[in-house]
Formats: sequence, C-alpha cells, structure tokens
Amino acid sequence: MTSARDSKAKRRPSFEMVVIGGTGDLAQRKLFPALFILKKYQEISEESRILAVARHPETEEDFRDEIGPKAASYVEKDEFDQAPWDEFWQGISYHALSATDQEAMRGLGAILDQNPERVRIFYLATAPSLYGEISRTLHAAGLVHASTRIVLEKPIGRDLDSAREINEQVGAVFEESQIYRIDHYLGKETVQNLMALRFGNSMFEPLWDSRSIDHVQITVAETLGMEGRASYYDHSGAVRDMVQNHLLQLLCLTAMEPPALLEQDSIRHEKLKVLKALRPIARADVRDNTVRGQYQAGAVAGKAVCGYLEEPGIPSDSETETFCVLRCHIDNWRWAGTPFFLRTGKRMGHRVSEIIIEYKEVPHKLFLDQNDQLEANRLVIRLQPDESIKLSLMAKAPGSGVRLRREFLNLNLRDRPGERTLLAYERLLLDVVKGSTTLFMHRDEVEEAWRWVEPILDEWESSNSRPRFYSAGSWGPPESIALILKNGRSWYEHVV
Ligand code: BG6
Repeated sequence: MTSARDSKAKRRPSFEMVVIGGTGDLAQRKLFPALFILKKYQEISEESRILAVARHPETEEDFRDEIGPKAASYVEKDEFDQAPWDEFWQGISYHALSATDQEAMRGLGAILDQNPERVRIFYLATAPSLYGEISRTLHAAGLVHASTRIVLEKPIGRDLDSAREINEQVGAVFEESQIYRIDHYLGKETVQNLMALRFGNSMFEPLWDSRSIDHVQITVAETLGMEGRASYYDHSGAVRDMVQNHLLQLLCLTAMEPPALLEQDSIRHEKLKVLKALRPIARADVRDNTVRGQYQAGAVAGKAVCGYLEEPGIPSDSETETFCVLRCHIDNWRWAGTPFFLRTGKRMGHRVSEIIIEYKEVPHKLFLDQNDQLEANRLVIRLQPDESIKLSLMAKAPGSGVRLRREFLNLNLRDRPGERTLLAYERLLLDVVKGSTTLFMHRDEVEEAWRWVEPILDEWESSNSRPRFYSAGSWGPPESIALILKNGRSWYEHVV
C-alpha cells in the first residue's frame, strides 16, 4: 500500500534549477528562502538540484560563508530551523563564472542532467539588460532543450523599445511557452482570492461595473526606503518599479471580463484587453492626472529616517519619484465613467496594499434626518500586511427610532489551523517547475503596459517641474490629496 506521503512524493516533479545572479539581492531575499521552505514542506522532490552561478566570490566555500547567513536571515522566523537549513544550503552547488561566457556555460552544461526530459530551469536574477545576451549564450552553449524554461524578473526593460528588444532576443531562443516573466504580486494569496471572489460567487459580478461602482482605488504603500538598492531604484522610480507591473496587474485582475477558462491564454487575453482599453494619458494631460513625489526626512513607525536625497548612493539632485498617483480610465462598456486611482510610494506611514471598490450612493435617500449618515458601500480587499476582505454596509443601530451606522462584514483570510499560505515566490517557483504559466506575464502584456506608462515618464522627464516633496511617514504630498479631492472623492486610509 502506498502512503499519502509516498503519493505526494510521486507527484513532485524533479528539476534542475540554475540561479544566474545567485549571490544577488533577489536570490538572497526571495529565491533561496522560498526554495528552502518548499523543500522543508517536501513540495519539491529530493532528486531536484539547485545550482547558483555568479562571477563573485570565487570559491564555493566563500559562497557558503558569505551568502548563506544572509539568505538564512530572510527565512521567516517561525519557518527557520538550523539543521534543515544547513542541509539545504550544503545541497546547493556554486559555480563562479560569467553567464555570458559560452565556454564557461558549456562547462556548466556538462554537469547538468543530460536527459532532455528532465525539467531544466534557468532563473535570471540579473540586470534585465543581460537577458538577451544570456539567452543567446545558453543557446550557443547547447543548454536549451524542449524541457528548458527561463524565468525573467521584472522590470523587463525600462521603456517600450527596450522591453521589445529583450522580448525579441529571448524569444529568438525560447518559445513563449518556455518563458516565465515573474510579477510576484500575481503569486500573492489575496490576488488569487480576487479571482475566487469575482468568479466563484454570483453576487458580485452583476454589481461589478460603472453602473454600481463609483470609483476604484489601488494603493500599495511601503514603509521601506532604499535598503541598499539605491543604484537600481534611482534609475527606475515608482512607475517603473511598481506601476508598470504590480499595480497594472492588480488593475487588470480587478477590471477584466470573466475568462472562459482558468488557464493561461484565457486569463492573459482578458488582462491584455484591459491594458488596451486604458485611456492613454497624453503628455498634455499628465499634469492633471498624475502626481509624483519624493520623500524627505521624517519618521516611520516612530523611528527617524533620512530623506531620499540623503540615502547612500542617491545623487543629491535626483529627480526620481518615490511616490506617484495616477488617475486612469478604462474605455470599455463595463468601466466607462468609473475612474481608477493608482497610488504607490516608499517610506509611507504604513505598509498596506489594498484594492478599494467604492460603490455608488443609494439613488434615493429615505432616512430624512439620518441621510447625512448614509455612506456608500465599500469593498476593501487587503493584500497585505494581513489578508482580508471587508464589506461595509449601512445598518440600523439598536434602540428606538432609526439611527444608521456603518457595519462591516469582515472575512479574515489568514491561515486556519492546519493550513499554510504559500508565499508568492513559493507558489510561482512551484508553477515554473510544474509548467504552469497562468500566473506569469505574456510579452504582449508587458509591452502594452510600457506603452501606457511611457508618455507619463516622458512628460515628467522633459518638464521643468520636479517631484513634490512629502515627509517620510506620511501618505504622500498634499497634491495627491488634491488630485482625488478635485474629482469629488477621497483616499481610503483606515489602517488598523
Ligand atoms: C518589488 C519592487 O518588485 O516589489 C520593490 O522592486 C518593492 O521596490 C517590492 O519593495 C514590494 O513587494 P512586496 O511583496 O513587499 O509588496
């Protein structure tokens, strides 16, 4: 008789993963911790192999000593145990070489499994400008076969042209079905729940359009500052780092039509339709529809923090935005007349990511002296720090007479006993191993998103104005409040 454990073991695919850029920030913070947890929970088979590739350090011993403790420190405390970690870390082999050196890569190929059916994954945790050259090298070194997959981290390029070029270059070596463009927001539990909420219940869909919904807010607020990523971030800024990918993906999942099937092509197709329907913000309209900000010194969670221009590695005259608000419209039948407000920033007062669906007011106000208590219904889908869905309703307070007050239906989506929520990278890495591309971005989506944000970036770069200052620990510059107020709405900022 086979036990449940044996049959789980049989279902686990075996793979070889080569992490290129295996000593970098992403590998340390996200990839190795996620792979460790997957191994700990036996989600990946014992025969799977992980190889790390980087130019420095030169020896495996230095790799183990220098990178190991750092990667271990990013494993969630309650998931960490030293002995399993040591076993995991010893199991990773390290190869000091350049991934654009054909001979060196051919040498690496010699130690990979030669069975063409074994899943082989190249995870490119490198600068996106290297994706094309590394793909060509992999091909020239004979390392690409039908079971090979390549994983690309965002941002894919820094504008439409560079994104196209990367997609062309990688596409010359790999089929689209072999390319996994990661946007880790798509791997978050509540983002998946958004689809369950919309398409697993019949009551929301009829109320999911501009007839019922006044506006939508998508906020991703971070308390973090630069955390050693200054050189990357200063060339990027909030739009390239967060909006072009994470926020637009959230917008797509909120606004898309129900897909016919829960599979990659259907979902990607629906998301792409939303991106194509986004009304372009012409350069002349950028001023009225956007605000960009940059944080100054302030306090976050009671601790004094420096301003962006004082961060190590940031030029003192940098005009990179660390905050932005964009007002957008989706020009289609469902959403005509319902604005979407996107907002994201570093060093804000709270870490919170939420999608707010603000319903319209009732058409006729019935409650005479209570009418000013009437508030529109609001659905708050919180992605982090906790995961919840909250619906506000008007209800009568107990007692004589009619006194109205706001009440909440509150659904906490945290783990229940015996359940474990996968972190975004755990889920996405597992999907790569299993060959499921549903939660990854198609090249068309990436390019369409660049097409939409590009005029905004161009206008900002060429205008004489600079980002507005805001104090670290605040909700952004006053102009961001003015932008939504002038539209007759206000930001939802009820963080508990
Ligand atoms: C990354 C950005 O993609 O997402 C970072 O490059 C940002 O700047 C991070 O901090 C936010 O991710 P999360 O999962 O912490 O919301």
